[in-house]
Amino acid sequence: MTPYLIETAADLTPATAAAWQESWDRQQEAFLPDREERLTAMLDAVDAVVDGDAPRLLDLAGGSGTISLRALARFPRARVTLVDLDPALLALAGASLGDRATVLAADLARPDWRDRLPHREYDAVLTATALHWLPADRLAGLYAEVRELLRPGGMLVNADHMPDDALPTLTERLAARARARRAARYAAGAALSWSDWWDRAGADPALGPLVKRRQEIYPTGHSPEWCPPASWHLDALTAAGFTEAGTLWRGGTDAAVVALR
Ligand SMILES: C[S@@+](CC[C@H](N)C(=O)[O-])C[C@H]1O[C@@H](n2cnc3c(N)ncnc32)[C@H](O)[C@@H]1O
Repeated sequence: MTPYLIETAADLTPATAAAWQESWDRQQEAFLPDREERLTAMLDAVDAVVDGDAPRLLDLAGGSGTISLRALARFPRARVTLVDLDPALLALAGASLGDRATVLAADLARPDWRDRLPHREYDAVLTATALHWLPADRLAGLYAEVRELLRPGGMLVNADHMPDDALPTLTERLAARARARRAARYAAGAALSWSDWWDRAGADPALGPLVKRRQEIYPTGHSPEWCPPASWHLDALTAAGFTEAGTLWRGGTDAAVVALR
């Protein structure tokens, strides 16, 4: 297995990296209370399509390694690649995954993001809460690039904010309810907000310099969000040449779409 190839290693002990993972999970769960459910649905689908116990998995925009860590817990012999752009989250992924995965810095906004991947044929490409950072035309192109990276029968799962466009009124109400619940949790100190989490990471001696570099990559702390309905994704996946595309999971205004090559 190739060790991690990022240029952004940080001096994090395993205990410190595990604590940051835990805090990232709590911060993300404030947005996605059913986060673990969707990740389990994703890995159930992997289990259904892979032959053997060493699937080649690509964790796209994998951040700190959320999907990779859960995939390795379930499939310990999996050959995992994680790609992301954020130097602080990549460092956290590298410290947590060690030589169990290949961790690569790459920008999904550019078609050359595939250049350093260790495999040309993946069994599954998995991604969560990330591709809404990309604009429509780029995401459509990315779907086609991912298809080329899958073996015949291989699978893409994308879990993200994807409302059901047949339910506009309910979508609005669900979103309002989720915002209110999140605000209450922040007020009670039950979870850190996105910006508070990054402030905390910026104050960490090991992560701080990487958070500074991150601010140059994402000057506003995020990217403009683009969250089309699940139907847009299914149309784009079909247009990209996948043979089957459908909804694997839905929870409120989020969904996981799945497509088979
Ligand atoms: C909310 S995080 C989700 C991370 C992880 N999948 C999870 O569920 O915890 C969104 C991730 O998308 C990554 N990302 C956004 N735009 C990207 C791009 N153009 N290239 C690579 N990664 C990108 C960010 O760096 C960040 O790690």
